[in-house]
Order: sequence, then structure tokens, then C-alpha cells
Amino acid sequence: MPEQIQTAVITGAANGFGAVAARALHRAGYRVIITDIVHEPALALANALDLAGDTAVAATLDVTKPEDFQAVLDKVVDRWGSVEVLVNNAARTAVKPVLDIDPADFNAILTTNAGGTFAGSQIFGRYFKTRGYGRIVNMASLAGQNGGTATGAHYAASKGAILTLTKVFARDLAAFGVTCNAIAPGPMDTPLVREVLGDGIDKAMAAIPVGRLGDPDFVAEMVVMLASPKAAFVNGACWDVNGGIYPR
Ligand SMILES: NC(=O)c1ccc[n+]([C@@H]2O[C@H](COP(=O)([O-])OP(=O)(O)OC[C@H]3O[C@@H](n4cnc5c(N)ncnc54)[C@H](O)[C@@H]3O)[C@@H](O)[C@H]2O)c1
Repeated sequence: MPEQIQTAVITGAANGFGAVAARALHRAGYRVIITDIVHEPALALANALDLAGDTAVAATLDVTKPEDFQAVLDKVVDRWGSVEVLVNNAARTAVKPVLDIDPADFNAILTTNAGGTFAGSQIFGRYFKTRGYGRIVNMASLAGQNGGTATGAHYAASKGAILTLTKVFARDLAAFGVTCNAIAPGPMDTPLVREVLGDGIDKAMAAIPVGRLGDPDFVAEMVVMLASPKAAFVNGACWDVNGGIYPR
């Protein structure tokens, strides 16, 4: 009998790094549920990976709405029987000097980035606990460790919160076959980073000890490793990938 294919739900997977991670998980043999607030590019990616809609499908999921996580989880379990992996990737990246940030914007970024990771981990965590197996992979950031270089305090604080949530969920779910880990990239070569850095890209790269931006394909391989059943002994960890900007 063929081994049952595992299913991974990735948030914010229509564009940027989430799309790279979805492609990598699909290549590694996972069924991928490409979720995002924007539907068209999510659907385009799903169709590019599997036009038949069996090993790659798109779903609308706004991470600020816990009910969206529940609806996607219920639908996937209904259709394919199980979900094994949640990648909390969706985030809003914001750039502003700390003294200029409107408190309402601070709260909004926290709500999407940290609140979304919390809601996803809680809803999928309950399900994974009942099943006795699960993998949660959170996209944190170097900004959550060093306070941020190009990004704002709201973004950096949200990523620090994600690192703490990673430890809490890891501790609470460890005994039930569920792991929760984070990846903290420095600037990767993605459209967003090129947009944020603009003309300052050469200067920014020169300030990185290894003299280059991070490779999103490599970071996606880290997601695949942490999503694997083999990663059972990695829990509550944060895997740094920052070109030596922040050794610790
Ligand atoms: N790009 C980098 O160098 C870098 C570095 C460190 C960490 N990260 C993290 O990696 C992840 C992906 O980054 P990226 O560069 O691809 O960002 P991006 O802005 O290009 O993509 C983010 C995706 O999230 C989606 N999204 C935004 N709000 C959402 C919501 N409420 N619900 C669902 N989806 C929503 C967007 O539509 C988009 O598809 C983020 O968590 C980011 O913080 C990226």
C-alpha cells in the first residue's frame, strides 16, 4: 500500500517566500494548501503545481480571522483525511522610525503577525494534539532577535513575540508528538526585500558579513526539514540564517 501523502498548510503563500516554501514542500512530496488573503496568485501557484487540484490547492485565509484557520482545517481534513504541517508564514512587513509609528499601526502589525501565528498554532495545535502528530513551523526574523535594521519596531516586536510563542507551543505540545519551531532569516533575496532596500541594496549587502542576501530556496529547505517526521528531536528551536549579521 502506498504511504499516505502528508498535507501542509502554508499561510501567506501566494507571493514571496511563502510561495517558495510551498513549492519546496510540494517538491518534497507534500500536498500543499496555498493560503493567502489574495486569491488570484494563490490559485495561479496551485494550478502551476497541480492543475488537477489534488496535490496543490489554493484557499483564502486571512490570518487575523481565527475562523478562517478553522474553516481551512475542517475542509482539508474532510477532503483528504488529515493535516500534518502548518507553516505560519503570513506577515505584514512595515518600515517606519519608532517615534513615528501610530499606536494603531503598531497594534495592527502585532495582530496580523503575532496574532495570526497564535491563532494558527492554537487551532492547528488542538487538532495535532488530538491526532498525536504535527509540525508547526513559524517564520520569525532576525528583526525579532536584534530589534531590526531596515524594518520598524512594530514588525520587530511582532517577530520577537513569534519567537516566544514558538517556545510556548513547543513546550505545551511536545508530549503529544507535535513540534513547533521557528526560522529567523536575515534579509533574503525576495521581491519585498529589494523593494524595501531600493537603491540602498549594495550598501545593505556590504554590511552583511558574508556580503550577499540570503537564498530563499535554502531557507525553504529548512522549512522542509523542520516539517519532516525526522525532525522529531528539534523543538522550541530558532534556526538562524542571517549571513553572520547576528551571531549568538
Ligand atoms: N523576505 C525576507 O528577507 C524575510 C526576512 C525575515 C523574515 N521574513 C518573513 O518571511 C515571511 C515571508 O516574507 P516575504 O518576504 O515573502 O513577505 P511578502 O510581503 O512578500 O509576503 C507576505 C504574504 O503574506 C500575505 N499576507 C499579508 N497579510 C495577510 C493576512 N492577514 N492573512 C494572510 N496572508 C497575508 C501577503 O498577501 C503575501 O502573500 C514573513 O513572515 C516575513 O516576516 C522574510
